[in-house]
Amino acid sequence: MSIHTINNNKKVTLSTIAKMKGKEPIVMLTAYDALFAKLFDGKVEMILVGDSLNMSFLGKNDTLSATMDQMIYHTQAVCNGAELPLIVLDMPFGSYSTVDDAIHNATRAYRETDAQAIKIEGGKERAHIVEALTQNSIAVLGHIGLMPQFLRSDGGYIIRGKTKDDIKRLVEDAKALEKAGAFAIVIEGVKEEAAKAITKAVKIPTIGIGAGNSTDGQVLVWSDMFGFFEAFKPKFVKEYMGGAQMIREGVDQFVDEVKSREFPSEKYSY
Ligand code: KIV
Repeated sequence: MSIHTINNNKKVTLSTIAKMKGKEPIVMLTAYDALFAKLFDGKVEMILVGDSLNMSFLGKNDTLSATMDQMIYHTQAVCNGAELPLIVLDMPFGSYSTVDDAIHNATRAYRETDAQAIKIEGGKERAHIVEALTQNSIAVLGHIGLMPQFLRSDGGYIIRGKTKDDIKRLVEDAKALEKAGAFAIVIEGVKEEAAKAITKAVKIPTIGIGAGNSTDGQVLVWSDMFGFFEAFKPKFVKEYMGGAQMIREGVDQFVDEVKSREFPSEKYSY
């Protein structure tokens, strides 16, 4: 394993990300608090304050009930913890249904946090919203393919890009977002062939999650990849650490030492 220097230890900007397309894979992780953001600082190009926090941190079954207040609170925490990565606030379900709502809520994201960009889910049908935001000086990360905010209306998490027609639709979505001014696009839960076609069709970087190895970058949800989220495990998640098990062992040891009066020993007493 090599340890990589990210952007020469300088703040990552939108232009840093743009220049990486086709040159060096972009690494993005989610973070929801200052503690973990600080651990990721200087190690990844981008941090996404994902509405996935509604599941892993709030314990809900899906992302749909996340609110703008919640996203702002967690983004403030992440911005307090990390200086160098480009930080993106994930706009929650219902916060960008109309152009007015999108501008109002994304303006809050910029005014109340130090995030450099926001993310919204949707393709062609949301291009007019992306355009309105970018024309109002708000940087937008798109998100197409499997879109968790469409879970209930789609009737499940559905892998996309299995047919030529669907690949064509996804490519059109990506092109519409690019034309509307998105600076990059997250592609989630699509067949590798589709992700490859989308990445080739646009000049802006694509960042994949469950989209194979042809995108310009990769993102994973930190609580999945470090083994803390145990409710379910999608195929694309590689577990880099057995986090939940480590915590359980630590708690067991603490309980045992308190019960047996081994802790606190003299070393830990005044
Ligand atoms: O909310 C989130 O964490 C996301 C990632 C899965 C890209 O949108």
